Amino acid sequence: MEMDSYWNHNTAFHDELIADAKLRGGRVLDIGCGDGLLLQRLSPCVPQVIGIDPDHTAIALAQRRLAAISNVALINSDFLTVPVPMQEEQYATVISVATLHHMDLRSALLRMRQVLAPGGRLLIIGLAEDKSLMDLVISGSLLLPIRIMDRIHGGIGNPKVRISAPKETLREIRQVAKEILPGAKVRRRFYYRYLLSWDKPLE
Ligand SMILES: C[S@@+](CC[C@H](N)C(=O)[O-])C[C@H]1O[C@@H](n2cnc3c(N)ncnc32)[C@H](O)[C@@H]1O
Repeated sequence: MEMDSYWNHNTAFHDELIADAKLRGGRVLDIGCGDGLLLQRLSPCVPQVIGIDPDHTAIALAQRRLAAISNVALINSDFLTVPVPMQEEQYATVISVATLHHMDLRSALLRMRQVLAPGGRLLIIGLAEDKSLMDLVISGSLLLPIRIMDRIHGGIGNPKVRISAPKETLREIRQVAKEILPGAKVRRRFYYRYLLSWDKPLE
């Protein structure tokens, strides 16, 4: 049975991320892995899973959760400044859920591109700041349906992880992604999230 399972606006995307990673297999990196719930769910589906997070509390929770699972490794570090060995490794799938807005956008996308293997896929579930009238109208229209879904799921589970408010709008994220990850798709999703997906060309 799954330890300390919960549902929230981030875990709502787990099934789709896992199904996508499973298509490629290989090594999967979860950047900002928090308490490791996604790593736990990925572990039976791919050969190797690596989680990285600079928060000691989150990593301790993940260690506890993943203690009996052999194909998962944890790195207690900042993804942007992680020591050399990690920088040289490449992953078939790089996932990051609700974490990109904690980092400098440009530096994070550049490093994500670097650690992704040729032919691999980057999948980011992100949060954007609502600034334009269009953003506010879209988020406002989602309020009631999302409340209903929260109720259906028995409320939102909040793991003990660091949170912060998004600082870039979806428009700004699209602009930077277009430059760093040519061909990336950035789509609004339910639960006030977006999905950025990018396939790294084969060299
Ligand atoms: C809102 S939590 C999301 C955690 C998890 N992905 C989830 O969906 O529950 C954001 C996470 O990003 C981590 N984080 C912040 N800055 C980071 C960085 N530079 N490198 C890697 N992880 C980072 C935080 O410690 C935190 O665990």
